[in-house]
Amino acid sequence: MTATGSNHGSANVAGVSDALVFFGATGDLAYRQIFPALAGLIRDEDVDLPIIGVARSGDLDSLRDRARRSLQEHGFADEDVTRKLVESLQYVKGSDDDIETFHALRRALGDAKHPLHYLAIPPALFSEVVANLEASGCAAGARVIVEKPFGNDLASAIALNETVHRVFAEPAIFRIDHYLGKEAVLNLLYFRFANTILEPLWNRDHISSVQINMPEALDVADRGAFYDRAGAIRDVVQNHLLQVVSLLAMEPPSGQTPEAVRNEQFKIIDSIHPLAPDDVVRGQYAGYRAVEGVAPASTTETFAALWLFVDTWRWGGVPFYIRTGKSLPVTATEVRVDLKPPPQAVFGEAEPPDADYLRFRLSPDMSISIGARAKAPGEAMVGEAVELFAAHQSGTERPAYQRLISDAIRGDQSLFAREDWVEAAWRVVDGVLDDSRPPRSYQPGTWGPKESASLLRPGDEWHDPA
Ligand code: BG6
Repeated sequence: MTATGSNHGSANVAGVSDALVFFGATGDLAYRQIFPALAGLIRDEDVDLPIIGVARSGDLDSLRDRARRSLQEHGFADEDVTRKLVESLQYVKGSDDDIETFHALRRALGDAKHPLHYLAIPPALFSEVVANLEASGCAAGARVIVEKPFGNDLASAIALNETVHRVFAEPAIFRIDHYLGKEAVLNLLYFRFANTILEPLWNRDHISSVQINMPEALDVADRGAFYDRAGAIRDVVQNHLLQVVSLLAMEPPSGQTPEAVRNEQFKIIDSIHPLAPDDVVRGQYAGYRAVEGVAPASTTETFAALWLFVDTWRWGGVPFYIRTGKSLPVTATEVRVDLKPPPQAVFGEAEPPDADYLRFRLSPDMSISIGARAKAPGEAMVGEAVELFAAHQSGTERPAYQRLISDAIRGDQSLFAREDWVEAAWRVVDGVLDDSRPPRSYQPGTWGPKESASLLRPGDEWHDPA
Protein backbone atom coordinates (compact mmCIF):
# COMPACT_ATOMS: atom_id res chain seq x y z
CA MET A 1 0.00 0.00 0.00
CA THR A 2 1.23 3.47 -0.69
CA ALA A 3 0.28 6.69 0.98
CA THR A 4 -3.12 7.80 -0.19
CA GLY A 5 -3.97 11.02 -1.95
CA SER A 6 -3.44 12.46 -5.32
CA ASN A 7 0.20 12.70 -6.09
CA HIS A 8 0.34 15.64 -8.38
CA GLY A 9 1.94 18.88 -7.31
CA SER A 10 5.51 18.97 -6.07
CA ALA A 11 7.85 16.35 -7.32
CA ASN A 12 8.86 13.66 -4.86
CA VAL A 13 11.18 15.14 -2.33
CA ALA A 14 14.12 13.05 -1.32
CA GLY A 15 16.91 13.79 1.10
CA VAL A 16 17.30 16.32 3.82
CA SER A 17 15.63 19.73 3.77
CA ASP A 18 18.08 22.56 3.28
CA ALA A 19 16.11 25.46 4.78
CA LEU A 20 13.32 25.84 7.29
CA VAL A 21 10.61 28.44 6.86
CA PHE A 22 8.04 29.04 9.53
CA PHE A 23 4.89 31.02 8.99
CA GLY A 24 3.40 32.54 12.13
CA ALA A 25 6.85 33.48 13.40
CA THR A 26 5.50 35.94 15.96
CA GLY A 27 2.81 33.55 17.16
CA ASP A 28 2.31 31.62 20.34
CA LEU A 29 3.28 28.22 18.91
CA ALA A 30 6.60 29.55 17.61
CA TYR A 31 7.36 30.95 21.04
CA ARG A 32 6.26 27.94 23.09
CA GLN A 33 7.39 25.09 20.87
CA ILE A 34 9.22 25.92 17.66
CA PHE A 35 12.11 28.01 19.01
CA PRO A 36 12.92 25.49 21.78
CA ALA A 37 12.65 22.63 19.26
CA LEU A 38 15.02 24.40 16.86
CA ALA A 39 17.49 25.07 19.66
CA GLY A 40 17.30 21.38 20.58
CA LEU A 41 18.00 20.43 16.98
CA ILE A 42 21.07 22.66 16.93
CA ARG A 43 22.31 21.36 20.29
CA ASP A 44 21.61 17.64 19.88
CA GLU A 45 21.64 17.02 16.16
CA ASP A 46 23.96 19.66 14.77
CA VAL A 47 21.23 20.94 12.51
CA ASP A 48 22.64 23.84 10.55
CA LEU A 49 20.02 25.38 8.28
CA PRO A 50 18.91 28.84 7.32
CA ILE A 51 15.74 29.44 9.35
CA ILE A 52 13.35 32.00 7.94
CA GLY A 53 10.45 33.40 9.94
CA VAL A 54 7.50 34.92 8.10
CA ALA A 55 5.02 37.20 9.85
CA ARG A 56 3.03 40.36 9.33
CA SER A 57 4.66 42.50 11.98
CA GLY A 58 8.04 43.15 13.54
CA ASP A 59 11.52 42.88 12.10
CA LEU A 60 14.59 40.65 12.31
CA ASP A 61 15.77 42.18 15.58
CA SER A 62 12.44 41.65 17.29
CA LEU A 63 12.29 38.06 16.00
CA ARG A 64 15.76 37.36 17.36
CA ASP A 65 14.84 38.95 20.63
CA ARG A 66 11.72 36.81 20.84
CA ALA A 67 13.75 33.69 20.13
CA ARG A 68 16.17 34.60 22.93
CA ARG A 69 13.34 35.17 25.39
CA SER A 70 11.67 31.92 24.40
CA LEU A 71 14.88 29.97 25.00
CA GLN A 72 15.47 31.63 28.35
CA GLU A 73 11.93 30.84 29.42
CA HIS A 74 12.32 27.22 28.32
CA GLY A 75 15.54 26.63 30.19
CA PHE A 76 18.17 26.83 27.43
CA ALA A 77 21.18 28.11 29.31
CA ASP A 78 23.70 27.28 26.59
CA GLU A 79 24.70 30.65 25.14
CA ASP A 80 26.40 29.00 22.19
CA VAL A 81 23.19 27.28 21.07
CA THR A 82 21.20 30.49 21.51
CA ARG A 83 23.74 32.41 19.45
CA LYS A 84 23.67 29.81 16.67
CA LEU A 85 19.90 29.86 16.50
CA VAL A 86 19.71 33.63 16.54
CA GLU A 87 22.37 33.88 13.82
CA SER A 88 20.53 31.35 11.64
CA LEU A 89 17.34 33.40 11.76
CA GLN A 90 16.19 35.47 8.85
CA TYR A 91 12.97 37.36 8.59
CA VAL A 92 10.47 38.03 5.83
CA LYS A 93 7.81 40.53 6.72
CA GLY A 94 4.53 40.40 4.87
CA SER A 95 1.07 39.02 4.74
CA ASP A 96 -0.07 35.59 3.62
CA ASP A 97 -2.30 36.96 0.88
CA ASP A 98 0.40 39.10 -0.74
CA ILE A 99 2.41 37.34 -3.43
CA GLU A 100 5.24 39.85 -2.91
CA THR A 101 5.84 38.26 0.51
CA PHE A 102 6.46 34.96 -1.22
CA HIS A 103 8.74 36.45 -3.88
CA ALA A 104 10.76 37.93 -1.03
CA LEU A 105 10.78 34.51 0.63
CA ARG A 106 12.06 32.89 -2.53
CA ARG A 107 14.90 35.43 -2.63
CA ALA A 108 15.67 34.78 1.04
CA LEU A 109 15.83 31.04 0.34
CA GLY A 110 18.82 31.69 -1.93
CA ASP A 111 20.23 28.40 -3.19
CA ALA A 112 17.96 26.21 -1.07
CA LYS A 113 16.33 23.54 -3.22
CA HIS A 114 14.37 21.60 -0.61
CA PRO A 115 12.88 24.00 1.89
CA LEU A 116 10.61 22.78 4.66
CA HIS A 117 7.69 25.15 5.17
CA TYR A 118 6.08 25.00 8.59
CA LEU A 119 2.57 26.50 8.58
CA ALA A 120 2.18 27.48 12.24
CA ILE A 121 -0.89 29.50 11.33
CA PRO A 122 -4.68 29.01 11.58
CA PRO A 123 -6.03 26.42 9.11
CA ALA A 124 -8.20 29.05 7.42
CA LEU A 125 -4.99 30.54 5.97
CA PHE A 126 -3.47 27.30 4.65
CA SER A 127 -5.05 27.44 1.18
CA GLU A 128 -3.80 30.91 0.41
CA VAL A 129 -0.30 30.24 1.68
CA VAL A 130 0.00 27.00 -0.25
CA ALA A 131 -1.18 28.65 -3.49
CA ASN A 132 1.28 31.51 -3.01
CA LEU A 133 4.12 29.13 -2.25
CA GLU A 134 3.52 27.55 -5.60
CA ALA A 135 3.04 30.77 -7.54
CA SER A 136 6.33 32.14 -6.20
CA GLY A 137 8.37 28.99 -6.84
CA CYS A 138 8.83 28.35 -3.10
CA ALA A 139 6.99 25.02 -3.30
CA ALA A 140 9.31 23.40 -5.84
CA GLY A 141 11.15 20.52 -4.19
CA ALA A 142 9.68 21.51 -0.84
CA ARG A 143 7.97 19.82 2.09
CA VAL A 144 5.24 21.32 4.21
CA ILE A 145 4.32 20.84 7.87
CA VAL A 146 0.74 21.72 8.74
CA GLU A 147 -0.44 22.20 12.30
CA LYS A 148 -3.49 20.63 13.82
CA PRO A 149 -6.42 20.97 13.69
CA PHE A 150 -6.23 19.96 10.05
CA GLY A 151 -9.54 21.42 8.89
CA ASN A 152 -12.52 22.26 11.00
CA ASP A 153 -14.72 19.29 10.21
CA LEU A 154 -14.82 16.45 7.69
CA ALA A 155 -15.87 18.55 4.70
CA SER A 156 -13.26 21.24 5.30
CA ALA A 157 -10.53 18.63 5.91
CA ILE A 158 -11.34 16.95 2.58
CA ALA A 159 -11.32 20.34 0.84
CA LEU A 160 -8.05 21.26 2.54
CA ASN A 161 -6.44 17.99 1.53
CA GLU A 162 -7.47 18.70 -2.07
CA THR A 163 -6.06 22.20 -1.92
CA VAL A 164 -2.75 21.15 -0.42
CA HIS A 165 -2.47 18.25 -2.88
CA ARG A 166 -2.75 20.64 -5.80
CA VAL A 167 0.70 21.81 -4.83
CA PHE A 168 2.26 19.14 -2.59
CA ALA A 169 2.21 15.38 -3.11
CA GLU A 170 1.27 13.31 -0.03
CA PRO A 171 4.90 12.28 0.68
CA ALA A 172 5.72 15.99 1.06
CA ILE A 173 2.90 16.75 3.52
CA PHE A 174 3.58 16.44 7.26
CA ARG A 175 0.38 16.83 9.34
CA ILE A 176 1.78 17.33 12.80
CA ASP A 177 0.19 16.01 15.98
CA HIS A 178 2.67 16.43 18.79
CA TYR A 179 1.15 13.49 20.70
CA LEU A 180 2.74 11.18 18.12
CA GLY A 181 6.15 12.57 19.07
CA LYS A 182 5.71 11.85 22.78
CA GLU A 183 7.83 9.11 24.24
CA ALA A 184 4.98 7.77 26.38
CA VAL A 185 2.61 7.57 23.42
CA LEU A 186 5.19 5.77 21.30
CA ASN A 187 5.73 3.40 24.19
CA LEU A 188 2.12 2.24 23.82
CA LEU A 189 3.00 1.00 20.38
CA TYR A 190 6.28 -0.46 21.54
CA PHE A 191 4.95 -2.15 24.65
CA ARG A 192 2.06 -3.74 22.79
CA PHE A 193 4.11 -5.24 20.00
CA ALA A 194 7.51 -5.87 21.58
CA ASN A 195 6.03 -8.24 24.17
CA THR A 196 3.93 -11.37 23.97
CA ILE A 197 2.19 -11.06 27.32
CA LEU A 198 -0.48 -8.65 26.18
CA GLU A 199 -1.64 -10.13 22.91
CA PRO A 200 -3.61 -13.10 24.36
CA LEU A 201 -5.46 -10.67 26.64
CA TRP A 202 -5.90 -7.84 24.21
CA ASN A 203 -9.40 -8.48 23.00
CA ARG A 204 -13.08 -8.62 23.84
CA ASP A 205 -12.73 -11.94 25.68
CA HIS A 206 -10.56 -10.44 28.43
CA ILE A 207 -11.00 -6.67 28.32
CA SER A 208 -14.19 -5.12 29.62
CA SER A 209 -13.48 -1.48 28.77
CA VAL A 210 -10.75 0.94 27.79
CA GLN A 211 -10.61 4.43 29.19
CA ILE A 212 -8.54 7.48 28.29
CA ASN A 213 -8.54 10.45 30.63
CA MET A 214 -6.90 13.72 29.68
CA PRO A 215 -7.96 16.27 32.29
CA GLU A 216 -6.24 19.65 32.35
CA ALA A 217 -6.28 21.84 35.44
CA LEU A 218 -5.61 25.02 33.46
CA ASP A 219 -8.43 26.99 31.94
CA VAL A 220 -8.22 28.28 28.36
CA ALA A 221 -5.99 31.13 29.60
CA ASP A 222 -5.20 33.61 26.82
CA ARG A 223 -6.33 31.29 24.01
CA GLY A 224 -10.01 32.24 24.22
CA ALA A 225 -10.39 33.33 20.59
CA PHE A 226 -8.78 30.15 19.23
CA TYR A 227 -10.46 27.84 21.69
CA ASP A 228 -13.93 29.24 21.19
CA ARG A 229 -13.83 28.27 17.52
CA ALA A 230 -12.52 24.82 18.39
CA GLY A 231 -13.78 23.32 21.66
CA ALA A 232 -12.47 20.20 23.36
CA ILE A 233 -13.53 17.77 20.62
CA ARG A 234 -11.69 19.61 17.84
CA ASP A 235 -8.80 20.62 20.07
CA VAL A 236 -7.75 17.26 21.48
CA VAL A 237 -10.23 14.44 20.75
CA GLN A 238 -10.16 14.40 16.93
CA ASN A 239 -6.36 14.32 16.97
CA HIS A 240 -4.39 13.52 20.15
CA LEU A 241 -6.87 11.19 21.81
CA LEU A 242 -7.90 9.33 18.66
CA GLN A 243 -4.20 8.81 17.96
CA VAL A 244 -3.93 7.19 21.37
CA VAL A 245 -6.99 5.04 20.57
CA SER A 246 -5.46 3.99 17.27
CA LEU A 247 -2.23 2.83 18.95
CA LEU A 248 -4.14 0.98 21.66
CA ALA A 249 -6.59 -0.75 19.38
CA MET A 250 -4.75 -1.33 16.09
CA GLU A 251 -3.75 -4.73 14.77
CA PRO A 252 -0.04 -5.61 14.71
CA PRO A 253 1.63 -3.87 11.77
CA SER A 254 2.56 -6.41 9.17
CA GLY A 255 5.66 -6.19 7.04
CA GLN A 256 8.51 -3.76 7.22
CA THR A 257 7.26 -0.98 4.99
CA PRO A 258 7.33 2.53 6.42
CA GLU A 259 3.57 2.67 5.97
CA ALA A 260 2.80 -0.51 7.95
CA VAL A 261 1.98 1.24 11.22
CA ARG A 262 0.05 4.05 9.57
CA ASN A 263 -2.01 1.53 7.60
CA GLU A 264 -3.15 -0.13 10.82
CA GLN A 265 -3.74 3.20 12.53
CA PHE A 266 -6.02 4.19 9.70
CA LYS A 267 -7.91 0.89 9.61
CA ILE A 268 -8.83 1.03 13.27
CA ILE A 269 -10.03 4.64 13.22
CA ASP A 270 -11.97 3.86 10.07
CA SER A 271 -13.77 1.07 11.93
CA ILE A 272 -15.12 3.33 14.71
CA HIS A 273 -18.81 4.16 14.48
CA PRO A 274 -19.41 7.88 13.94
CA LEU A 275 -20.42 9.51 17.21
CA ALA A 276 -24.03 10.53 17.75
CA PRO A 277 -25.00 13.35 20.15
CA ASP A 278 -26.14 10.87 22.81
CA ASP A 279 -22.67 9.28 22.88
CA VAL A 280 -21.20 12.52 24.22
CA VAL A 281 -21.64 14.70 27.29
CA ARG A 282 -20.41 18.23 26.65
CA GLY A 283 -19.63 20.69 29.41
CA GLN A 284 -18.50 24.28 29.81
CA TYR A 285 -16.83 25.60 32.96
CA ALA A 286 -18.52 28.46 34.76
CA GLY A 287 -16.73 31.70 33.89
CA TYR A 288 -15.60 30.56 30.42
CA ARG A 289 -17.85 33.06 28.62
CA ALA A 290 -16.11 35.94 30.36
CA VAL A 291 -12.73 34.98 28.88
CA GLU A 292 -11.35 37.47 26.36
CA GLY A 293 -12.09 36.32 22.80
CA VAL A 294 -14.97 34.03 23.84
CA ALA A 295 -18.48 34.84 22.57
CA PRO A 296 -20.77 35.99 25.41
CA ALA A 297 -23.32 33.27 24.57
CA SER A 298 -20.75 30.67 23.49
CA THR A 299 -21.91 27.04 23.33
CA THR A 300 -18.36 25.74 22.82
CA GLU A 301 -17.52 22.77 25.04
CA THR A 302 -14.54 22.96 27.39
CA PHE A 303 -15.24 19.39 28.55
CA ALA A 304 -16.19 16.27 26.64
CA ALA A 305 -16.85 12.76 27.83
CA LEU A 306 -17.78 10.16 25.25
CA TRP A 307 -17.74 6.52 24.39
CA LEU A 308 -16.65 4.94 21.13
CA PHE A 309 -17.70 1.70 19.53
CA VAL A 310 -14.77 0.12 17.69
CA ASP A 311 -16.49 -2.19 15.26
CA THR A 312 -13.98 -4.99 14.78
CA TRP A 313 -13.83 -8.67 15.72
CA ARG A 314 -11.18 -7.92 18.35
CA TRP A 315 -13.10 -5.12 20.05
CA GLY A 316 -16.78 -5.97 19.50
CA GLY A 317 -18.70 -4.90 22.62
CA VAL A 318 -15.76 -3.21 24.40
CA PRO A 319 -16.51 0.47 25.09
CA PHE A 320 -13.67 2.96 24.65
CA TYR A 321 -14.35 5.86 27.00
CA ILE A 322 -12.70 9.26 26.60
CA ARG A 323 -12.86 12.16 29.05
CA THR A 324 -11.05 15.48 28.70
CA GLY A 325 -11.53 19.09 29.62
CA LYS A 326 -10.14 22.35 30.90
CA SER A 327 -10.40 23.52 34.53
CA LEU A 328 -10.62 19.97 35.86
CA PRO A 329 -9.00 18.91 39.15
CA VAL A 330 -5.66 17.75 37.74
CA THR A 331 -3.44 17.73 34.62
CA ALA A 332 -2.60 14.20 33.58
CA THR A 333 -3.12 11.82 30.70
CA GLU A 334 -3.73 8.20 31.45
CA VAL A 335 -5.02 5.09 29.72
CA ARG A 336 -6.71 2.42 31.78
CA VAL A 337 -7.60 -0.96 30.37
CA ASP A 338 -9.99 -2.85 32.65
CA LEU A 339 -9.93 -6.61 32.46
CA LYS A 340 -12.91 -8.84 33.06
CA PRO A 341 -13.31 -10.30 36.56
CA PRO A 342 -12.65 -14.00 37.16
CA PRO A 343 -15.68 -16.10 36.22
CA GLN A 344 -16.02 -17.62 39.68
CA ALA A 345 -15.53 -16.30 43.23
CA VAL A 346 -13.11 -19.06 44.21
CA PHE A 347 -12.29 -17.54 47.60
CA GLY A 348 -15.79 -16.37 48.43
CA GLU A 349 -14.58 -12.97 49.61
CA ALA A 350 -17.27 -10.81 51.16
CA GLU A 351 -16.40 -7.82 48.95
CA PRO A 352 -16.25 -8.74 45.28
CA PRO A 353 -12.67 -7.85 44.34
CA ASP A 354 -11.98 -5.19 41.72
CA ALA A 355 -11.00 -6.61 38.38
CA ASP A 356 -7.42 -6.44 37.18
CA TYR A 357 -6.30 -3.63 34.95
CA LEU A 358 -3.42 -2.09 33.02
CA ARG A 359 -2.64 1.56 33.48
CA PHE A 360 -0.48 3.54 31.07
CA ARG A 361 0.47 6.90 32.47
CA LEU A 362 1.31 9.19 29.55
CA SER A 363 1.85 12.49 31.33
CA PRO A 364 3.09 14.36 33.28
CA ASP A 365 5.14 11.32 34.31
CA MET A 366 5.39 8.07 32.39
CA SER A 367 4.72 4.63 33.80
CA ILE A 368 3.03 1.31 33.18
CA SER A 369 1.24 -0.57 35.93
CA ILE A 370 -0.62 -3.78 36.21
CA GLY A 371 -3.33 -3.82 38.85
CA ALA A 372 -3.98 -7.23 40.32
CA ARG A 373 -5.00 -9.03 43.50
CA ALA A 374 -2.59 -10.63 45.93
CA LYS A 375 -3.24 -12.43 49.14
CA ALA A 376 -3.30 -10.16 52.14
CA PRO A 377 -0.95 -11.41 54.88
CA GLY A 378 -2.76 -13.56 57.41
CA GLU A 379 -4.65 -16.78 57.84
CA ALA A 380 -7.67 -15.98 55.72
CA MET A 381 -7.72 -16.40 51.94
CA VAL A 382 -8.53 -12.77 51.50
CA GLY A 383 -6.82 -10.51 49.04
CA GLU A 384 -5.84 -6.93 48.52
CA ALA A 385 -5.25 -4.79 45.45
CA VAL A 386 -1.60 -4.45 44.41
CA GLU A 387 0.07 -2.67 41.52
CA LEU A 388 3.12 -3.88 39.65
CA PHE A 389 4.64 -0.60 38.66
CA ALA A 390 7.33 0.33 36.13
CA ALA A 391 8.27 3.99 35.95
CA HIS A 392 10.16 5.53 33.09
CA GLN A 393 13.15 7.67 34.02
CA SER A 394 12.83 10.59 31.69
CA GLY A 395 15.77 12.66 30.65
CA THR A 396 17.19 11.48 27.39
CA GLU A 397 14.18 11.60 25.10
CA ARG A 398 13.78 14.51 22.76
CA PRO A 399 10.76 16.77 23.27
CA ALA A 400 7.93 15.93 20.86
CA TYR A 401 8.28 18.97 18.61
CA GLN A 402 12.02 18.51 18.29
CA ARG A 403 11.63 14.87 17.33
CA LEU A 404 8.91 15.63 14.80
CA ILE A 405 10.61 18.60 13.13
CA SER A 406 13.76 16.51 12.90
CA ASP A 407 11.80 13.73 11.19
CA ALA A 408 10.22 16.18 8.77
CA ILE A 409 13.62 17.63 7.86
CA ARG A 410 14.71 14.08 6.96
CA GLY A 411 11.44 13.30 5.18
CA ASP A 412 10.32 10.58 7.61
CA GLN A 413 6.52 10.60 7.77
CA SER A 414 6.04 7.70 10.20
CA LEU A 415 4.94 9.92 13.07
CA PHE A 416 2.71 12.23 11.07
CA ALA A 417 -0.99 11.87 10.37
CA ARG A 418 -1.81 10.58 6.92
CA GLU A 419 -4.60 12.04 4.82
CA ASP A 420 -6.89 9.02 5.21
CA TRP A 421 -6.37 8.89 9.01
CA VAL A 422 -7.22 12.58 9.41
CA GLU A 423 -10.40 12.23 7.38
CA ALA A 424 -11.42 9.04 9.21
CA ALA A 425 -10.90 10.83 12.55
CA TRP A 426 -13.08 13.71 11.42
CA ARG A 427 -15.71 11.18 10.33
CA VAL A 428 -15.81 9.85 13.91
CA VAL A 429 -16.51 13.25 15.48
CA ASP A 430 -18.29 15.06 12.65
CA GLY A 431 -21.81 14.35 13.92
CA VAL A 432 -21.15 15.90 17.34
CA LEU A 433 -19.34 19.07 16.33
CA ASP A 434 -21.25 22.30 16.83
CA ASP A 435 -24.05 20.62 18.76
CA SER A 436 -26.68 23.36 19.06
CA ARG A 437 -27.70 22.18 22.53
CA PRO A 438 -25.89 24.25 25.15
CA PRO A 439 -23.18 22.34 27.01
CA ARG A 440 -23.79 21.58 30.68
CA SER A 441 -22.17 23.97 33.10
CA TYR A 442 -19.59 22.77 35.65
CA GLN A 443 -17.61 24.42 38.37
CA PRO A 444 -13.87 24.86 37.73
CA GLY A 445 -11.87 22.29 39.64
CA THR A 446 -14.54 19.59 39.42
CA TRP A 447 -14.79 16.55 37.15
CA GLY A 448 -17.25 18.21 34.76
CA PRO A 449 -20.97 17.60 34.46
CA LYS A 450 -22.20 14.69 36.55
CA GLU A 451 -24.16 13.47 33.50
CA SER A 452 -20.88 12.04 32.16
CA ALA A 453 -21.58 9.06 34.43
CA SER A 454 -24.63 8.25 32.31
CA LEU A 455 -22.39 7.28 29.39
CA LEU A 456 -20.90 4.37 31.29
CA ARG A 457 -22.17 0.84 31.22
CA PRO A 458 -23.52 -0.42 34.57
CA GLY A 459 -20.55 -1.39 36.71
CA ASP A 460 -18.07 0.87 34.91
CA GLU A 461 -16.75 4.06 36.46
CA TRP A 462 -14.62 7.03 35.48
CA HIS A 463 -11.13 6.68 36.92
CA ASP A 464 -9.40 9.59 38.55
CA PRO A 465 -5.83 9.77 37.22
CA ALA A 466 -4.65 11.99 40.04
C1 BG6 B 1 -2.73 21.09 22.35
C2 BG6 B 1 -4.07 21.70 22.67
O1 BG6 B 1 -2.75 20.52 21.07
O2 BG6 B 1 -2.44 20.08 23.30
C3 BG6 B 1 -4.08 22.26 24.08
O3 BG6 B 1 -4.36 22.73 21.74
C4 BG6 B 1 -3.66 21.20 25.07
O4 BG6 B 1 -5.35 22.79 24.42
C5 BG6 B 1 -2.35 20.57 24.62
O5 BG6 B 1 -3.49 21.83 26.33
C6 BG6 B 1 -1.96 19.41 25.53
O6 BG6 B 1 -0.68 18.97 25.17
P1 BG6 B 1 0.34 18.43 26.25
O7 BG6 B 1 1.55 18.06 25.49
O8 BG6 B 1 0.53 19.53 27.22
O9 BG6 B 1 -0.35 17.24 26.89
